Amino acid sequence: MRVIIRPTYEEMSKEAALLVKDRMMKKRDFVLGLATGSTPLGLYKELIRMHKEEGLSFKNVKTFNLDEYYGLEPTHPQSYRYFMDTNLFNHIDIEKANTHVPDGKAEDVEKFCQWYEEEIKKAGGIDLQVLGIGGDGHIGFNEPGSSFNSRTRLVALDEQTIKDNSRFFEKIEDVPRFAITMGVGTILEAREIILLANGKKKARPVAQFIEGPITSLVTASALQLHPKVTVFLDEEAASELKRIDYYKFVEEAEKKINKKLF
Ligand code: GLP
Repeated sequence: MRVIIRPTYEEMSKEAALLVKDRMMKKRDFVLGLATGSTPLGLYKELIRMHKEEGLSFKNVKTFNLDEYYGLEPTHPQSYRYFMDTNLFNHIDIEKANTHVPDGKAEDVEKFCQWYEEEIKKAGGIDLQVLGIGGDGHIGFNEPGSSFNSRTRLVALDEQTIKDNSRFFEKIEDVPRFAITMGVGTILEAREIILLANGKKKARPVAQFIEGPITSLVTASALQLHPKVTVFLDEEAASELKRIDYYKFVEEAEKKINKKLF
C-alpha cells in the first residue's frame, strides 16, 4: 500500500486528482468507481477544474458508484445520485447514461444487485475505484463484519454510521436504515484503488486499516490484500499512524529513482 500524506485537505485532494487524471489519460473507455461523502468533494472539485481548464474529458468514461441509500428517490437531495449529479456529473462532459448509481428504489433488490454486478463486468471491470472511509472503518456501506467475499447487496446500516450521516439530514430519524452497496469482494476486483481520508476523526480507522490486522471488523483492512492501493491522507488523518517516517521516505525515494515503489 502506498501512503501519501499532505499537509492540507486541498493538497491531498489535488494529489489524488493527479493520479485519477494520469490513469484516465492512459486508457480509452476508462471505468471509474466513485464514492460519495464529504471526503471526495475536493477531488471532484479538482477534476471539474481539470475538465474546464485543462480539457480533461469524460466523454468515454463510464462510472459506477459504490452505494446508495435504500428507499430514497434519485431526486432526494440526500440521495447519492443527487450528490453525484450536483457535485460532479453536471459539471463535466460525461454522458449521463454512462453513470451508474445503485437504484435506491429498486423493487426487486436482489435482481437489481445482480444486474449492477453484471453491468460492471460488461463494462470491462473497474479500472480505478475511489473510496472514502467511515468512522467505523467501513468502505462503501460494508459495515463491520461484512464478508470480504461480499457482493453488491442490501445492507442494514450500523448505528455509528446512522449517527455520522445524520449531519446531512434534518433529524436522525430521517436517515435511511438500509442501503445498497457494492460488496468488499466487488471492490477488491477493481484493478486499482485509491482511498482518501482527512481530519482528526478519521485518524483511528486509518491507522487500523493500514497498520492493524486484516479483519472484517474494519472492512477497509481488506485493502491490505489488494496489489495496487494508494491512500491519500492529510496530516490529521495520518496522525495515529506509526510508520509515517517510512511512508515519507518511500515517497522521497520514488522521486529520486523516478519509479513507483509498490
Ligand atoms: C458513507 C459512505 C462511504 C463514505 C463514508 C464517509 O458511509 N457510504 O462511502 O466513505 O460515508 O463519509 P465522509 O467522507 O463524509 O466522512
